[in-house]
Amino acid sequence: MKFDSPAETNLFDDKKIIGKPTPRIDGPLKVTGTAPYAYERNDVAPDALYGYPLGAAIGHGRITSMDATAARNAPGVRAVVTTLDIDPLEKGMNNIARLFGGDEVQHYHQAIAVVVADTFEEARAATALIRVEYEAGEAANLNLDAAFRDVEGTGDPDTLVGDVEAAFRDAAVVTDQMYRTPAESHTMMEPHSSTVDWSDGGDMTVWTSNQMINWNHQSIATTFGIDPDRIRVESPYVGGGFGSKLWLRADAVLAALGSRAAGKPVKLALPRPMVMNNTTHRSATVQRIRLAADADGRLKGLWHEAASYCLPGGRGETATAPTPLFYAGQTRRVKNHVVDMPLPETADMRAPGEASGLMALEIAMDEMAVALDMDPVEFRIVNDTQVNPSDPETPFSDRNFVECLKRGAEVFGWADRNTTPGARRDGDWLIGHGVAGAFRGAPVLPSGARAILKGGKLIVETDMTDIGTGSYTILAQTAAETMGMALKDVEMRLADSTYPVSSGSGGQFGAASSTAGVYAACMALRDKIAGRLGLNDAAFADGRVTGGATDMALSEITEEVSAEDAIEWGDFQDGYEVATFGAHFVEVGVHALTGESRVRRMLAVCDAGRILNPITARSQVIGGMVMGVGAALSEDMALDRTRGFFANHDMAGYEVAVHADIPDQQVLFLDTLDGVATPLKAKGVGELGICGVAAAVANAIYNATGIRVRDYPLTMDKFLDRLPVT
Ligand code: MOS
Repeated sequence: MKFDSPAETNLFDDKKIIGKPTPRIDGPLKVTGTAPYAYERNDVAPDALYGYPLGAAIGHGRITSMDATAARNAPGVRAVVTTLDIDPLEKGMNNIARLFGGDEVQHYHQAIAVVVADTFEEARAATALIRVEYEAGEAANLNLDAAFRDVEGTGDPDTLVGDVEAAFRDAAVVTDQMYRTPAESHTMMEPHSSTVDWSDGGDMTVWTSNQMINWNHQSIATTFGIDPDRIRVESPYVGGGFGSKLWLRADAVLAALGSRAAGKPVKLALPRPMVMNNTTHRSATVQRIRLAADADGRLKGLWHEAASYCLPGGRGETATAPTPLFYAGQTRRVKNHVVDMPLPETADMRAPGEASGLMALEIAMDEMAVALDMDPVEFRIVNDTQVNPSDPETPFSDRNFVECLKRGAEVFGWADRNTTPGARRDGDWLIGHGVAGAFRGAPVLPSGARAILKGGKLIVETDMTDIGTGSYTILAQTAAETMGMALKDVEMRLADSTYPVSSGSGGQFGAASSTAGVYAACMALRDKIAGRLGLNDAAFADGRVTGGATDMALSEITEEVSAEDAIEWGDFQDGYEVATFGAHFVEVGVHALTGESRVRRMLAVCDAGRILNPITARSQVIGGMVMGVGAALSEDMALDRTRGFFANHDMAGYEVAVHADIPDQQVLFLDTLDGVATPLKAKGVGELGICGVAAAVANAIYNATGIRVRDYPLTMDKFLDRLPVT
């Protein structure tokens, strides 16, 4: 199905099933602990042996020798494969560092050996017996501030609109500040895990935890140089990814090599302390933002220059991503720098670019509002735009940011906020209120599915993943709505490389793309059923097909009918900016004596087209908000600059926010319709929820204390010496 013009009134506007708050259909499996995750595939690989990885103990350099004799002779050990035993493996899609093979170490905790044993304990104990000699590489400069100073002002701008210098010269008010965001780890609940059967070195089955089945499938074929037709990848349940599982990682590679060496299936999970340096993370950023405004609060100029790091060939973190698009303003200059650093790989993490960029830009907006003596809600409203300000010919398909701000202000009670920084107290707590805008693009990818009518039941197969987001449920809703069937008569089968290729889960494109793909497949099935019955004009409702003299239950169709199709996206979408918007409101308390910040309540108002399922959508947004609070207050991968690794590589040292940190959390959806976006008029929310949150917290803390901190996270040490003496 080609989506080549904006959606008009269609069957989804009936909203019988789509749009209804529908509990997760995989919920019972998950809460009873019976959903088979990648490390728990006793149903398909009951005889799997245990693999355990060894990570490199230097930041970069070379391995000069490895002695695995003691490990091979240790109790229960079936096989040991070291990186010196095999040639360097080819890199899979977007793998920047090599995952295994050869003597080069590109980052700390790069996988350098796998031990396979009868038990987990035996494998782990034997791994500790491997002796490794290294030749460390030369010390590198890992100071991002220094790197920013070196590159600032160099290179052509990514976006240059109007006479920026003149705008800053002539403006009534100008701000100019530096902002810093630290390296962040995805810290999903389930570590990277795989069970692999490659026991005869021929066909390979990979039960893994991954967001993108097709990319993973192709990457495994490339990495091992084997025919994709000989590889099957399944990932039906994923315990979170946040971007960390977009690409092939070492767990699957080591389990495959271990399986071939031991002649049995092998399961391997990256130990938590290896996840943070072995896999990818979000790069730290250094950002300079200059804003220029008229006395009436209209932005005249925006200037955003940022730097992040990665291994050579990577993309780092594009913190400038939202700046060309979010706010009006006649002139702007935007430049993103990526500097090479021998550190663990940086890559996508939830709202890559927007999340870190808005952490800075939305503080800058608050600072400008203060400088203008304007309400920060009003300041953002004044600078709304309905067209891409860097390309005014291109309108937003549907943008209701102002409505988000207004609704949020009303529901939150913004009018009653503290307006004088540091002036409101509740005992020892200084109370403050903050706001920030949220912006995130709404991309789509081609997505396919197969729909099968069998004995009155509908089976839908697609390689789409459910990474905790609710895909099973919204896809079943889509199929049921399209076929005019009851939800209970739909069975979703996901995340198997033998199924039609879908968008996968990432970039908040999953829900928008894969529901459209399932719609396409179900419409193809409707055509096929109508054709079989000789109907020109068939209607599907209440589990029946009607047309002409025909009125029959779908369960009366005894033969199996199957159809496959995919959604393809038309060029007309290029004429629009398709994006999602939101406003975050936060109340904090900052302890006047210790500087400890606590979120007291928070509200998000989101504009993301049709909300397919308010329960799963809300769950996505509150998850993003919790992550945003972590980014504001605690998350910080601590870099050992002399050795080139992140020292706090576990969940004790790297602190994420949890539910208990946020006593009161509210999410409102405008529930608009965006016919340009998809046939369902829907857009993703999975990444929108984190955008702007950290800045709303930071702005609330400023309002509580009068202290402006621009270096995340906003830990107590950054406030202590400036708190009021009481
Ligand atoms: Mo996302 S960071 O593309 O999973």
